[in-house]
Amino acid sequence: MQTKQTINIIGATGNMGSAISQNLSKGNYRLLLYARDQEKIEPIVNEIKNANPAADVEAIDSNYNGCWEADIIIVAVPYGAQNEVAEKIREVANQKIVISIANPLNETHTGLATAPDTSAAEELQKLLPNSKVIKAFNTTFAADFSMPVIDGKQVDAFIAGNDAEALQTVSELVSTVGFNPIIAGDLTVSRTLENMQLLLIQLGMKYNYNWLAGWKILHN
Ligand SMILES: NC(=O)c1ccc[n+]([C@@H]2O[C@H](COP(=O)([O-])OP(=O)(O)OC[C@H]3O[C@@H](n4cnc5c(N)ncnc54)[C@H](OP(=O)(O)O)[C@@H]3O)[C@@H](O)[C@H]2O)c1
Repeated sequence: MQTKQTINIIGATGNMGSAISQNLSKGNYRLLLYARDQEKIEPIVNEIKNANPAADVEAIDSNYNGCWEADIIIVAVPYGAQNEVAEKIREVANQKIVISIANPLNETHTGLATAPDTSAAEELQKLLPNSKVIKAFNTTFAADFSMPVIDGKQVDAFIAGNDAEALQTVSELVSTVGFNPIIAGDLTVSRTLENMQLLLIQLGMKYNYNWLAGWKILHN
């Protein structure tokens, strides 16, 4: 049997952090849920345990300790908080997989806050040079997590990164969450993935486009 991996979810009280935690709790993982406000995290832990009494999940009150214990770290905070979080976890995130889910939208959602020759994921990699940063989940909406299957097909979830083993590990994690993992390329492909989600959000705002469905590439 595969060794149980420990995952620290930073921002576990947010829309994405709580949705990822809920779906991951069905897998063979130990989950450490971190949020700045401990009062908000306990109800999420209780909800997960009520839905799945076998879930291995607990609240953790120190981001540093959570990352120290973790094999995988999911940074589920707004792009604006990325620098602050990276600063706190840098020394305990060494050699670990760190998942960037951020869409660095500007305030008006008319563009990205990042320069065209980079992405939120690449910026995180610069902040955590000894970690294996992988882009995942940025093209799936929080609302998709309760129903990751549309018309009988799983919603696609694109992954990008530079480390082959880490990409494989994150593919398995994405699959456990319920999506169809597609390895899209190296970490620079995060630029495209972040722009894809910007487009989906803009189409939703302009045409009430059915963005809740997420992306679906046609395949057998
Ligand atoms: N919402 C979506 O459908 C969606 C889809 C794809 C990707 N994303 C990306 O996912 C990330 C989270 O989005 P969200 O919608 O889940 O946001 P959210 O609901 O606002 O949640 C943000 C979480 O980050 C925490 N946080 C904020 N600043 C922090 C800091 N400085 N240090 C530690 N924790 C901090 C918040 O905790 P507090 O309660 O303590 O503030 C909260 O738990 C963003 O990067 C977003 O671009 C979102």
